[in-house]
Amino acid sequence: MSRPAVRIAPSILSCDLGRLAAEVRAVEEAGADWIHVDVMDGHFVPNLTFGPSVVEVVRRATRLPVDVHLMIDDPDRSVADYVKAGATTVGVHAETCRHLHRSVARIRELGSRASVALNPATPPEAVEYVLEDVDQVLVMTVNPGFGGQAFIPGQLRKIERIRRWIDERELAVDLEVDGGIAPGTAKLVAGAGADVLVAGTAIFGAPDYRAAIGALRAEAFSTTSGG
Ligand code: DX5
Ligand code: ZN
Repeated sequence: MSRPAVRIAPSILSCDLGRLAAEVRAVEEAGADWIHVDVMDGHFVPNLTFGPSVVEVVRRATRLPVDVHLMIDDPDRSVADYVKAGATTVGVHAETCRHLHRSVARIRELGSRASVALNPATPPEAVEYVLEDVDQVLVMTVNPGFGGQAFIPGQLRKIERIRRWIDERELAVDLEVDGGIAPGTAKLVAGAGADVLVAGTAIFGAPDYRAAIGALRAEAFSTTSGG
């Protein structure tokens, strides 16, 4: 089955938050495909960031899909708030859901795309039996909580494994990677089968957003086109 082109999703975690709407518009104009929003609760991860009101601001600032990554305990309690705030995709961590199948079914019932994220230490088998029931899998290539961390190469095998399942079963599931994605690692993850690349530092830390997004896209393209 032919795969869609690799999409680039800037993470607003690394943007100038004082100019959030302008930053979102700037990456949209620079060629971003999605906007990635990192929600952290200070419990599941040792950092505290945004809530639904920030998702609403992002939603109003752009026409691009808004990809919400919930790094929070007990996400079932708040997924409805993120759907209402305008999330195109709501992602929950497998480690935070006692009834993962029920959690993703509920996100879809509420009207958003459902994604499941896996920490680096979580095996790919955590999504094996829900793959038919999700729109996306997110393989974390750093431990969640902060931008600017180093890519963990051991995650490539996990990306390859999940890519194989998606292709064998001919599923329309996006395979997203998040953490330490930059020129150099973008090529590796795209080669392993990722088709959505989240990047914070590599885009918002760059002087020219268009060039930064273009560099990631070019690397991914060179791998997936067999070049
Ligand atoms: C980390 C977040 C990432 C983060 C990535 O917990 O989920 O989305 O923004 O930042 P970089 O691209 O700087 O590793
Ligand atoms: Zn993220």
